[in-house]
Amino acid sequence: MKEKYHSSQIALHWLVLLLVIATYASMELRDFAPRGGSARALMSSIHYSCGVSVWVLMIGRMLLRFIHPTPEITPKPERIISIASHAVHGLLYLIFLALPVFGIMTMYFRGIDWTIFGVSMPIAAVPNYDLKETMEGIHEVIANAGYFVIGLHAAASLYHHYIVRDNTLLRMMPGKK
Ligand code: HEM
Ligand code: HEM
Repeated sequence: MKEKYHSSQIALHWLVLLLVIATYASMELRDFAPRGGSARALMSSIHYSCGVSVWVLMIGRMLLRFIHPTPEITPKPERIISIASHAVHGLLYLIFLALPVFGIMTMYFRGIDWTIFGVSMPIAAVPNYDLKETMEGIHEVIANAGYFVIGLHAAASLYHHYIVRDNTLLRMMPGKK
């Protein structure tokens, strides 16, 4: 049994983290840029482009899990800990696969031109503000849940590394050993 995740899984895990940070930051810091200005438009564009990239990469990561078996943790954690960590991983997939979809649907029903990496995206011929509001509301709730679940996930990995002192975190770190 191998000791670490496959290098492609490690690379994508940390790349997705960077993109998730950029996606959250571009939205949270957007109010520092004046409304109607080019800086604000750029921040929105970063949000949409990085958010969609997260979606694509999460699909890739899910497929990689089928190809590469998950390396075992040594010493083996209690069964309840393994179940909890699998549940959190499943939740992370669910959140970061669903969140971009609700964002895209918000933009679609809003009916105003928008781009991903400069490429125009489809919009509804007739905007539907009720649906736009619903999609945006769900997007907001899932985005807030995302903060909590990422925090829990990161704290658990630090707990494994510094308190339990097993190889959970090292399995996801780049490098040979
Ligand atoms: C990793 C993926 C994403 C994360 C973490 C994320 C996170 C967020 C957050 C935190 C907000 C602010 C919510 C609030 O007001 O409290 C937001 C708003 C919004 N997001 Fe996302 N988002 C993601 C992907 C996307 C994508 C792919 C799109 C569209 C292509 C999108 C479109 C929007 C829109 C339209 C808003 C409302 C603000 C506005 O009018 O621009 N998001 N998002
Ligand atoms: C500081 C932030 C983060 C740290 C320290 C961290 C650490 C780790 C570690 C140590 C593992 C291996 C755990 C195990 O096999 O039991 C892991 C796996 C995983 N992480 Fe993170 N992570 C972070 C951020 C994120 C983010 C933002 C996401 C969301 C997209 C994420 C999604 C996952 C998933 C889905 C797995 C399961 C393995 C896989 O399918 O690739 N992580 N993480």
